[in-house]
Amino acid sequence: MKKLFMFFSLLLAVGAVSAENYLISTAKTSLLVTATEGERPKYQYYGARIEKGDIQGIFDSGLALDVESYPAFGLKTANEKAIAVQHNDGNMTLDLAVTGVRQFSAEDGDITEITMKDKVYPFVVKQLFKAYKGTDIISTWVEIENKGKKAVTLYRFASAFFPLQRGDNWMTHFHGFWGSEHTMAEEQLTNGQKTISNKDGMCNTEQDNPSFLISMDGKPGEEHGQVFAGTLAWTGNYLIKVIASNTALSVSAGINEETSFYKLEKNEIFVTPEFCMTYSTTGKGGVSRAFHRWARKYKLWEGDVAEDILLNSWEGVYFNVNQKEMDNMMKEFSAIGGELFVMDDGWFGDKYPRNNGSSSLGDWMVCKEKLPEGVGGLIASAKKHNIKFGIWIEPESSNTKSELFENKPKWILRVDNRPVSTGRGGTQVILDLSNPEVQDFVFGVVDSLMTNFPEIKYMKWDANCSVQDYGSYYLPKDKQSHIYIEYHRGLRKVCERIRAKYPKLVMQACAGGGGRVNYGFLPYFNEFWTSDDTDALQRIYLQWGVSTFYPAIAMASHVSADKNHQTGRRVPLKFRFDVAMSGRLGMEIQPKDMSETDKAFAKRAIAAYKSIRPVVQFGDLYRLVSPYDNKGLASLMYVTPEQNEAVFYVYKTAHFINSIIPVVKMAGLDANKNYKVKDLTPVDEKKPCAVDGKVFSGKMLMEEGLAMRNLLKTEYSSVALHLVEVK
Ligand code: DGJ
Repeated sequence: MKKLFMFFSLLLAVGAVSAENYLISTAKTSLLVTATEGERPKYQYYGARIEKGDIQGIFDSGLALDVESYPAFGLKTANEKAIAVQHNDGNMTLDLAVTGVRQFSAEDGDITEITMKDKVYPFVVKQLFKAYKGTDIISTWVEIENKGKKAVTLYRFASAFFPLQRGDNWMTHFHGFWGSEHTMAEEQLTNGQKTISNKDGMCNTEQDNPSFLISMDGKPGEEHGQVFAGTLAWTGNYLIKVIASNTALSVSAGINEETSFYKLEKNEIFVTPEFCMTYSTTGKGGVSRAFHRWARKYKLWEGDVAEDILLNSWEGVYFNVNQKEMDNMMKEFSAIGGELFVMDDGWFGDKYPRNNGSSSLGDWMVCKEKLPEGVGGLIASAKKHNIKFGIWIEPESSNTKSELFENKPKWILRVDNRPVSTGRGGTQVILDLSNPEVQDFVFGVVDSLMTNFPEIKYMKWDANCSVQDYGSYYLPKDKQSHIYIEYHRGLRKVCERIRAKYPKLVMQACAGGGGRVNYGFLPYFNEFWTSDDTDALQRIYLQWGVSTFYPAIAMASHVSADKNHQTGRRVPLKFRFDVAMSGRLGMEIQPKDMSETDKAFAKRAIAAYKSIRPVVQFGDLYRLVSPYDNKGLASLMYVTPEQNEAVFYVYKTAHFINSIIPVVKMAGLDANKNYKVKDLTPVDEKKPCAVDGKVFSGKMLMEEGLAMRNLLKTEYSSVALHLVEVK
């Protein structure tokens, strides 16, 4: 397939194009770049779609940005640069000029490739833009080639550098910590620099996500406002810099080069990660819908296949996995309509059984004491209870207390003449994925489980440690500064091998919660774990942030125990379900501890989710009332592309007597259609909420809305409604 695609691309390549202005468009957006031979390429415009006939107008109106698209350090050194190098003779300058432009069509997008060469040194930079077909996403990256005889050192190698119009700009990004990942932060940009970066080495989204929005015309609304939005598709350390002054605004995004200068050998090509962006004239909602459609079509593994409803064993039993308990959980979950059971941490380790976080990673054999019948016994249970089976792994790590570490002490990232630093449990260490032997081992963890037990349908791939010591036994001395980068290249190679061999295996990206929610990792995964915090109230805020760039189908959202294990909050089961049902529904609970009434409710809620699954997992998201606006409630909805079905959620986020409870107006419906409403999760089947069974026009629901005063009466009240078109 790949070969065929390359052939197709070549056939369509049109060679040097004479025009200097290149218009790169999607259905709703356009990017205008000037690339004249012998000169530096420049950005002129990125915004709502324009046609060729509008190009002159961009210049005449003064809107043209006229800013270099990939500024290089060395000559006219002031201002932010995208690339900085040192040639072998000590010269630290680049003078890049366009030598050609190709435009061609690939399977997934239309590509514009601008080739630049240094005027003196044999050094080439290709800047590429891809307009993804059938979406409103354009991505950009560069390929840096050393055509000289000696190595060149790269000190700065951004994926993208972008000028934007300065005005009343607001920046939105997603900050956090363990348990509070993806908390939305929104602020007016003041002059100066704002940096979002990551230095974890392993997992890059726990403390901030490499995704952000910048508005052009004031605080962005959900459905109004002009917004630029971008995300860096990279799994490792990243750096996003926003620089604002009275007269200019620019953004650069790429791998974080700090302590990662790169020795580019002769004929080597360094390819930066993709920076993927959109421009919305319909606020943040337009951004999200564009990213979600693109993600499902191109960036998630099988983003068009509906996800199962699962029970994960973690909060139910933690490390106390055993055959009887697993069997019982499968039985109970199957009885309430569950489709998949995932056995989490605690199942492995022979010499050192895994009873807590301080041992056994790397020893991927079943702990016989806990599971005498092995994985086979669990699969037999799953068959018996008519449920699919999945398993947890953390294959990139080891513990100093493990057989793997004892046998392969040089397979971990460490520094020869210093004691080993450790992470979780006081013993966790990271394997050196720059080493091909280690890559084979990590691939082998999945491969041997799948070869021995092809019935395994799902794997949760966890990562609970940062890079500790910056040293690799594998990389040569003069390339130790490549560790952060080579680690992630190695990880990608492993993922590619897994996907080539196991395309149908469903995989979840987890990293101590939401540490790996990025578009570098997601192309190999079906979904991600958003946070270890399963508290339904906090999840409303957290999932709100996640939903800006990542689609509901990939957002695992689990109903957990009362009281919640992270916050200690007690929230009704209905509220917990209503929140979890706005993502990929699952449970993370000990079913045997649930009352019969709760089980009966869960059974009905699971059945209800099945009836709306395609709307949630493939529909368009409209966020209606933000929890961050402190209006006492939060609300969102999903609408099918045909606008014939929708699911509406509202949650009471604060409860005070006789406080204002706003009316909620819907969005995304067809004003001319009528919709019948069904209460999806009434606590008492015989007493659905007041709007159940009523018919409303789309116009009324969007212009007038629904009053919430009678629907949200008590603390932690919530409503989930299914709207179906009636003719
Ligand atoms: C961290 C994950 O986020 C949890 O869900 C769980 O899998 C634990 N690791 C297991 O150690």
